[in-house]
Amino acid sequence: MSKKVFLSGVQPSGKPHIGNYFGAMKQFVDLQNEHDGYVFIADYHALHSLRNPKEMKENIKNVLLDYLAIGLDPKKVTFFKQSDISEHTELAWIFDTIITMPYLMRAHAFKDAEAKNKEIDVGTFNYPVLMAADILMYGPDLVPVGADQKQHVEIARDIAEKFNNVYGEGSQIFKLPEPMILKEVAIVLGTDGRKMSKSYNNTIPLFAEYEEIKKCVMSIVTDSSGGIPQNVYAIHKLFRPEEELKKIYAEKSGKYKELKEMLIEDLEKFIAPLRERRKEFAKDIPKALEILKKGGEKAKIVASKKMSEVREKIGVNI
Ligand code: ADP
Ligand code: TRP
Repeated sequence: MSKKVFLSGVQPSGKPHIGNYFGAMKQFVDLQNEHDGYVFIADYHALHSLRNPKEMKENIKNVLLDYLAIGLDPKKVTFFKQSDISEHTELAWIFDTIITMPYLMRAHAFKDAEAKNKEIDVGTFNYPVLMAADILMYGPDLVPVGADQKQHVEIARDIAEKFNNVYGEGSQIFKLPEPMILKEVAIVLGTDGRKMSKSYNNTIPLFAEYEEIKKCVMSIVTDSSGGIPQNVYAIHKLFRPEEELKKIYAEKSGKYKELKEMLIEDLEKFIAPLRERRKEFAKDIPKALEILKKGGEKAKIVASKKMSEVREKIGVNI
């Protein structure tokens, strides 16, 4: 039997933190052994918020190194860049012609953007359509994402259904994907107890140096209830089994400094090897870029085959 397929995309939008890692990135590495995988850098999606070409280039290289460092294996996963596969934007246009404006206006991301800024670009409005094209092109069974992306996967399912109804003549041209969201890590908390996020300045960077880890942990806001610093505990439980941790926190009740020091050491133990691997990959950028190029060549074969089928179905192949 052929393996199940997973697919996910990541925007090149700055340094990842441990919330991104446990909430999304780690799942790609865990899935790669039992599944065929597609992971891509969603650079065209990032365009709506990143308009500095130098920064875009740097960010793309950084994401590439981040994913190689966490153990994504290009032999097991097709790792590529969205903009290298022009079929994604082509398919997005075709989807644009079968879905309605009122439907897309119900998307959370659009509503949030509208609440903040009345002059939204069309790319922000259309974001879920390009995402549907990214996904449906490769027919994945699973789409591992953080909780905030759930609605986008549901939109992709709706678009697949609609397309199948309009053009499928009873057959399934596009497979309906399932989102994969892990409950325990759906929302990793930051140093201030809110959701860890780049925009809240409450992160612990995934590739932080020791001094930076120390600074982040020392800045954790210690709201104690019953001698347990909850915000420290919430981060600590990502690195040790809770049974073990509960005992330690009970023994060291009220000793916040000691508990924070222990968390620093646990974080360092976890981050140091990742940091070192990243530095190794960073020594040979051309080699890393070659991985992306090769992945793009593999993805292109799948995408162009799918697009031939789509062109045939919509009747433009004459
Ligand atoms: P940020 O909020 O820091 O800008 P992104 O929007 O770049 O993060 O998210 C990238 C991925 O990481 C998404 O799949 C998102 O759902 C996941 N993610 C982000 N923050 C967290 C968090 N605190 N806990 C769990 N998953 C997260
Ligand atoms: N929107 C996703 C995010 O911000 C990135 C993304 C683009 C994506 N295309 C995708 C994720 C396809 C999964 C599948 O995190």
